[in-house]
Amino acid sequence: MTTLSLYAPGTRVYLPRESEEEGWITAEVVTCTKVSADALKLVLRDESGQETTLTGTLPPLRNPPLLESADDLATLSHLNEPSVLYAVQSRYAQRKIYTYSGIVLLAVNPFEPVPLYTPEIVKSYIGRNKGELEPHLFAIAEDAREVRWIFLNSRLKLTDGCDESGAGKTESAKLVMRFIAAPKAPATNADQNSFVDGASLVEQQIQATNPILEAFGNAKTTRNDNSSRFGKFIQLLFDSNRQIVGARVRTYLLERTRISYQTTTERNYHIFYQLCAGLPSKNLESLRISADYSQFHYLNQGGPSSAELSDRDKFHATQDALNIIGIDAGKQTSIFQVLAALLHLGNINITQTRTEAIIEDEDPAMVQAMEFLGVNLTEFKRWTIKKQITTRSEKIATTLTAPQAVQVRDSISRFVYACLFEWLVTAINESLTGKYGDAAARAETHIGVLDIYGFEHFEKNSFEQFCINYANERLQHEFNTYVFKLAQDDYVKEKINWTFIDFDDNQPAIDLMEGKLGILSILDEESRLPLGTDASFLQKLNAQLDKPANKAVYKMPKFANAAFTIAHYALDVTYQVEGFLEKNRDTVPEEQLALLTASSNPFLREVVDTALHRVGEPVEPPSPNGAVSKIPDPGRTSLVGTTGRGTSVKKPTLGSIFKGSLGTLMDMLRTTNVHYIRCLKPNQHKMPWEFHPSQVLAQLRAAGVLETIRISTAGYPSRWTFETFARRYYILIHWREGPPLIKREQWKRITVLVLQKAGIDKSKHQFGETKIFLRTGVLATLEALRSARLNAVLFMQTNMRRLIAMRKYRHFQRSVVAIQSHWRGATARKAFHQALEKSLKEAEAAREAEAAKAAKEAAMAGRESRAGGRKTPTSINDRSTASTGSPSKTKIRKMFSFGSKEKSALVLPDQPSPEPPLIGRQPSRLEAASKRLSRRSWYDTSTSSSRAKSPVKSPNRAKTPNHLAPPAGHSSKMPTPIYDQFMKKPPWNSSTNLLH
Ligand SMILES: Nc1ncnc2c1ncn2[C@@H]1O[C@H](COP(=O)(O)OP(=O)(O)O)[C@@H](O)[C@H]1O
Ligand SMILES: [Mg+2]
Repeated sequence: MTTLSLYAPGTRVYLPRESEEEGWITAEVVTCTKVSADALKLVLRDESGQETTLTGTLPPLRNPPLLESADDLATLSHLNEPSVLYAVQSRYAQRKIYTYSGIVLLAVNPFEPVPLYTPEIVKSYIGRNKGELEPHLFAIAEDAREVRWIFLNSRLKLTDGCDESGAGKTESAKLVMRFIAAPKAPATNADQNSFVDGASLVEQQIQATNPILEAFGNAKTTRNDNSSRFGKFIQLLFDSNRQIVGARVRTYLLERTRISYQTTTERNYHIFYQLCAGLPSKNLESLRISADYSQFHYLNQGGPSSAELSDRDKFHATQDALNIIGIDAGKQTSIFQVLAALLHLGNINITQTRTEAIIEDEDPAMVQAMEFLGVNLTEFKRWTIKKQITTRSEKIATTLTAPQAVQVRDSISRFVYACLFEWLVTAINESLTGKYGDAAARAETHIGVLDIYGFEHFEKNSFEQFCINYANERLQHEFNTYVFKLAQDDYVKEKINWTFIDFDDNQPAIDLMEGKLGILSILDEESRLPLGTDASFLQKLNAQLDKPANKAVYKMPKFANAAFTIAHYALDVTYQVEGFLEKNRDTVPEEQLALLTASSNPFLREVVDTALHRVGEPVEPPSPNGAVSKIPDPGRTSLVGTTGRGTSVKKPTLGSIFKGSLGTLMDMLRTTNVHYIRCLKPNQHKMPWEFHPSQVLAQLRAAGVLETIRISTAGYPSRWTFETFARRYYILIHWREGPPLIKREQWKRITVLVLQKAGIDKSKHQFGETKIFLRTGVLATLEALRSARLNAVLFMQTNMRRLIAMRKYRHFQRSVVAIQSHWRGATARKAFHQALEKSLKEAEAAREAEAAKAAKEAAMAGRESRAGGRKTPTSINDRSTASTGSPSKTKIRKMFSFGSKEKSALVLPDQPSPEPPLIGRQPSRLEAASKRLSRRSWYDTSTSSSRAKSPVKSPNRAKTPNHLAPPAGHSSKMPTPIYDQFMKKPPWNSSTNLLH
């Protein structure tokens, strides 16, 4: 199989449009000529008929139609970007949102409810292997359940200026959890969400985690009305009987700046709006808030609520979920009180005198906030507008400016909210695993679902984006390692001769971020220095990292000050250093923390205490009976910066906490098998069923799907079991060989013969233990041969069928003509005899009248002669002939001009019979003949000789219905539609006997 033959005339290829953004168009090779040893000249004709000539460059090949919208991209014979994109796009156009790409499931967001999650569908995927049914999330979840694999739902991708928030990760994660936690026999009503019906308490509790975490951890962003602003890892725990016994929830990096600031197109966390919209007015009054949330600084910076969100309804769902989790009404009131306190906190009016910040003593918002928080008002005010600096010998309080005081105020709000979130997660865990983690101790296996933020790249990228992208970089690395290891494991398992290949490794970028002298450690070092600033941090970065060794991954941007650029696996991202240090430190002043921990509000104390659990401490307190869980735990991942509460313990920074928790998570993932679901966003406008190829392509590239494909093409991307291969391609070998081998199930032998017959070069394939491994393009060649063979068969069958049909048609035609001519003959004969009889009767009557008259005259003459002498008598015969006479032979023939057949059958009398009337006498010769004729069956006369003599030109014959007439020149041509109609529905009723 040479390159020349790959591009043979008629081959379909993809031609890039003018700009890559626009994707590709399809073209066909018109001519292919060799211009040098390694260059071809191709003339291509595209869809619009335009011709293009390419010399040297070879366009990507299009797949055979069978494979074009394959449900697994790994089965594509030509693995190239346009083919992958086309497959995903054409499936999406058929409303198929899921496609496999090897071990990865690609899910394209439909942006509207789809009937893919009904109880019937849930049922159909239970107990089925992946690949048995259409690609689906449930197939992956079922696979995970069967082999106890960890399931990872990660989001990755971006194009300039947009992240892939809203791709559908959280929805997918929810669906997977619902599927796994669904009872084996789901309810049968049609409601898509109903497969929770009949769930056990623990299953209901697992599903209740979603509304709670969404209310407190999701917010409306520019790209997603319900964007998760934290990472989430949920472990579903199973006992030895595969029954769900509980679950664990671990969260990562809740976005905290959102509490105090939102852009105009975004919102704060849903729970604040839910509270204002859903709480009865008397409860609102007791919290000193109203349904009009615009009075709060923390809520009025953002945009309006989206019409899609009904905050009131969602609030009730949140309350129900809190009840299911076991957070009673009293606790719920306490939660709402803390939330209200934060809203009031944001309204504290901080003004600036010439030198320092001031807050009115009676500031109503402060009074209200402190009342709900149970914190001493004077102390709070003091430590909001002042800062204490500890020197070696003494403590000095210095004043703050208004912006600094606002920072302190907001840091308290953010801290309290983060603590509350952490407390909720702990409460959820307690309810899902029992206070001492009993369920975790009983669990034998687990399935983890990771739904973590995707790659982010905004106009201005800060510390949050840095952390998120760092997480994605690590996840991508795990993905690459896993996918390529898995792909290459197959070669080892099948004992294939194979040299291992390298993949595009993103380790240098990871080292740059988390290495010993990497960005995170420099940031930590600088954060701990009392005089450290963002500028000094950047200086150190450049000094340490702007070296030739890091050239590929670290850059100093030319046009941005106070920024640095990292070349991520997906894209280069420039980070503005402003705020890095503050965000990394992210601690409330110690004085304020002391106030909070000493609060008179017992609930707030509990919340802060829970959150201040040191990072790394076991989440579940040791069980009194000493049971320990076998299930690995990624550990507590709280991002609440702790202070060690007055001890001299070094404060962990946000960066170091995140790095640590990510490390444990990765270690855990490495010990398990992973399924990946890549969620793709088909357009930026959340429009249902709109597919923007360039955007999806960028996501496929960034998600490593195309890189995986690149690696695959370097090896043997097509792997078929001998049986599957043989069953599909046995028709390529001799018809005497194939079927007997199939009968004996000699699949490998058939495979060998097929490859020989197709002339596939030895370098293009390898035989494994159970599979045949094929290089890229081989399958396409085999498909082409197969369709050529099938076309030949089809051609023969078509012609054979035509021949048979034509024969049948002619037979019918002849029969119809015969029936018609005989029928007409019989009818005419009948009419002839009736006419004949009538004329005979008339002649008879005339003769009798003549005879009577003659007799009368004779009698009269006798009398006269007797009276006056004799006269000469007249001949009776002469007179009868002259006056009346019977109809002559020619006259009757003229009346019934039937043609030669009838003529030959009729023996007409030369003259009327002189015999007496029929009654009471012997029939005349003519009468006997006519009787004989009328009795004769029509078929007696249908001999070929009589047909040959039949009067085809007679007017009667011309009346043969047109639609029965064969098409002009029919004998050697294909049947016409009229003919087909005739064949399908004859114009006569076949049950009618034409003889009657
Ligand atoms: N499978 C799906 N069926 C219907 N709509 C979906 C599906 N997946 C996502 N969506 C829509 O897309 C929106 C964003 O999805 P989400 O999972 O929140 O995105 P992400 O977590 O990736 O940011 C959802 O609110 C929903 O409207
Ligand atoms: Mg999400």
